[in-house]
Amino acid sequence: MTSVSYALDVLSEAVVDLAAIAHNTRLLTRTAGSAELMAVVKADGFGHGMVPVARTALANGAGWLGVATPAEALRLRAAGIDAPVLLWLYPPDHDFGPVLAAGIDVSVADVAVLESVAADAWKSGRPASVHLKADTGMSRGGAVAPDWTKLLDAARRLEEAGTIRITGLWSHLATAEDTTDAGLHEQIRQFADFRHAARAAGVLAPVVHLANSAATLHLPQTRHDLVRTGIALYGSEPVPGRTFGLTPAMTVRARVVSVSGPLAQIPLGFADGIPWRASGRASFQLHGVRVPVVGRITMDEVVVDIGDLPVRPGDTAVMFGPGTAGEPTAADWARWADTNPHEILTGIGARVVRRYLSHSEPAAR
Ligand SMILES: Cc1ncc(COP(=O)(O)O)c(C=O)c1O
Repeated sequence: MTSVSYALDVLSEAVVDLAAIAHNTRLLTRTAGSAELMAVVKADGFGHGMVPVARTALANGAGWLGVATPAEALRLRAAGIDAPVLLWLYPPDHDFGPVLAAGIDVSVADVAVLESVAADAWKSGRPASVHLKADTGMSRGGAVAPDWTKLLDAARRLEEAGTIRITGLWSHLATAEDTTDAGLHEQIRQFADFRHAARAAGVLAPVVHLANSAATLHLPQTRHDLVRTGIALYGSEPVPGRTFGLTPAMTVRARVVSVSGPLAQIPLGFADGIPWRASGRASFQLHGVRVPVVGRITMDEVVVDIGDLPVRPGDTAVMFGPGTAGEPTAADWARWADTNPHEILTGIGARVVRRYLSHSEPAAR
């Protein structure tokens, strides 16, 4: 994405360049090789808009969509998207009827849940497509080794009864960006053990998946049949010190509302996703120059020190963008706030107006 150039006519906006999403999807699809690509579009497409991102990813090579919740999955179907969708987060005692009727795949890590999915599938008259999740060390909703065999046995029995289809075996990596982390190699090794146990139990799922963005890009041995990419799809480079040619898709901008001496007031605060922890470290870009945030970040506003720049009310301040014109990036904000770009992107608030570009705008300010 080149820098966004047209006049800003709202208080603040997040411009999403769908051409960047398309580029990133194609790059990731090529990298994944024979593995299929799942575009992870949960949390409203990491703040970019779930439906436009999903459509763009599917049009550029993604074969699957990944979401956390049933509501997200059903929103995709309501938008008319009929691609394979996997969901992995739901409350205890969930009624799976609606998602099964919508043909959504469900992640399961527990025998009781599997039985309830199968019972709901029986009522709906069609088998549920399930992905059995193993806990290889993330400790977030997978079966640990002693429970894995029980889960496999139950799954095989229910598959034979015709109420479920075992579509996937999967797990999630905690630290895929850091190859020096022993925990990462241990997770990969444990995943191999889980797969081996599945084969030994006669469970042969067609779709084995483990890799997130970082793993997809630099750990080929984790790609298996399907890779699940989130942050890379949105253009943030996930492996520290390496660049793979991804293009950030979002630019967040706002209009200066007032100027008083060397201070300019910008109508973006912590309710809009300006991380409070970035106080004293962050900067915006105004008139092509980095200007530091000074004072406290409030709910609705921040103040920047413009020095002697001839800034006037109505001028455009850039919080972050692709970085091609010297503006900060979401990765810069993540560093300033001691967090990851995921939190910066998903934190951009609802009152920041989303605007979509399907081709890059010429650079000018
Ligand atoms: C289960 C699962 N898979 C894949 C992803 C994508 O991860 P990343 O954004 O690191 O590519 C996520 C996102 O957090 C996830 O929860």
